Amino acid sequence: MNHVSANQLEQQAARVLGGNNRGSHTIPSPSNYPHQWLWDSCFIAVGLTHLDPQKAAAEVTTLLSGQWANGMVPHMLFSESKPVDGPKFMHMDHLLWDSKRNPQAPKHIFTSGITQPPLIAEAVWRVSKKLNNKERKQFLEKTIKRLIKYHEWIYAERDFNGNGLMSAVHPWETGMDNSPPLINHMHGKHIDFLSTAENMAVSGMVKAVRRDAKETHLDERTLSGDAFILAAAAWKLRRTKYDHQEMRHHANYIEDVALNSILVRNNMILGELAEASGVELPDELLANMRRTEESLDKVLWDEETQMYYSRDARSSQLLNVPTVGSLLPLYAGTIDKAKVSALVAHLREGGSFAAQYGVPSVPIGHPEYEEKRMWSGPAWVNMNWLLIDGLVRAGYEPEADGLTEKTLKMVQKGGMHEYFSAQTGEGLGIDNFSWTAALTIDLLKSRRQS
Ligand code: GLC
Repeated sequence: MNHVSANQLEQQAARVLGGNNRGSHTIPSPSNYPHQWLWDSCFIAVGLTHLDPQKAAAEVTTLLSGQWANGMVPHMLFSESKPVDGPKFMHMDHLLWDSKRNPQAPKHIFTSGITQPPLIAEAVWRVSKKLNNKERKQFLEKTIKRLIKYHEWIYAERDFNGNGLMSAVHPWETGMDNSPPLINHMHGKHIDFLSTAENMAVSGMVKAVRRDAKETHLDERTLSGDAFILAAAAWKLRRTKYDHQEMRHHANYIEDVALNSILVRNNMILGELAEASGVELPDELLANMRRTEESLDKVLWDEETQMYYSRDARSSQLLNVPTVGSLLPLYAGTIDKAKVSALVAHLREGGSFAAQYGVPSVPIGHPEYEEKRMWSGPAWVNMNWLLIDGLVRAGYEPEADGLTEKTLKMVQKGGMHEYFSAQTGEGLGIDNFSWTAALTIDLLKSRRQS
């Protein structure tokens, strides 16, 4: 990519972020995602640090303002402003979740009742580096206690097996909604419902109510039957009033490899932030953090395929469909050199995750691979970014640079889309997508400094 086109790409990305900003926060995209999402806002804050560090700080503090009394940071904060974005009925989402049925939910704002990958420490750390000393001190004072409380909540309410691994009570908590191992795991219990829903889809009825299919093709979205399963599972959580003891009995929970890789890295960053703020982390939290690190390595690794997998948290069975999540222990940064090198081999030319554009969410050629369906094959800028960050820290700079170039080439070809064909670079899903824009800016900036 030449310099001029890099500048144009940066300007295009900045325009998308500006267009999606709603004052105190940034929405993922106006057409489909009119609220604030947890990990989206973390990625957005990373990009905003290059444009406007104050705005980046506001993105994170707004996110943390939705924190529950028990420490949970919810995966969605519902916009209370006039429904200017997206179809009107999306502004009824807070009624669907009705999270205030749980007394821990905040009174001043409507939120969902579950969380998303705990990337907030990463965002806080990157934002704080761009602030001046005084601003940094104030920002850390505002955020550090909330962050510690969030990580303590993860262990109090999501470590169902007491092994340090965070369980997701719904695939939405992993951020990879319909990723094959997650959705297949839900199927067993809903098979009749599933086929009924697919038949309905054929008759066109489902298409009429699929909110996410208005601006994209259905073959790029979650299958209709799966969308029903996900909605039904969320409804089930609503009935538990989002009480973790109840959810433990009723939810189909998973020790997700991506979620736990992100937790490990963010635990480490939290330690650094606490030190910088002169705050000591409680011993119990430190012991839990160590357990996550050990379990990620011992429990989720499969020697035979030289890969990590998520696990059914009740039966302890590995859900052995490889996904881009299987590679995220690279981002965790704590796995041994031999395993790092095995994961890097999967990414290299000839490896199972090699592709012309970015890293496919499921290996091309795998029976579960679908070129265009979200999380079933397409490449995502956020996943590439996490892998690039991990590769750099592991000393694999040439691989990180190679993946950066592929990612930028993909965005240049496909536009500021939600995800991309790993084979052709075609932009898929929603256009004007915030985290694609934000991380494109970050990749361009780090590349120019290197
Ligand atoms: C989709 C993605 C999820 C993201 C959300 C908002 O549901 O799967 O990861 O947070 O959209 O962009």
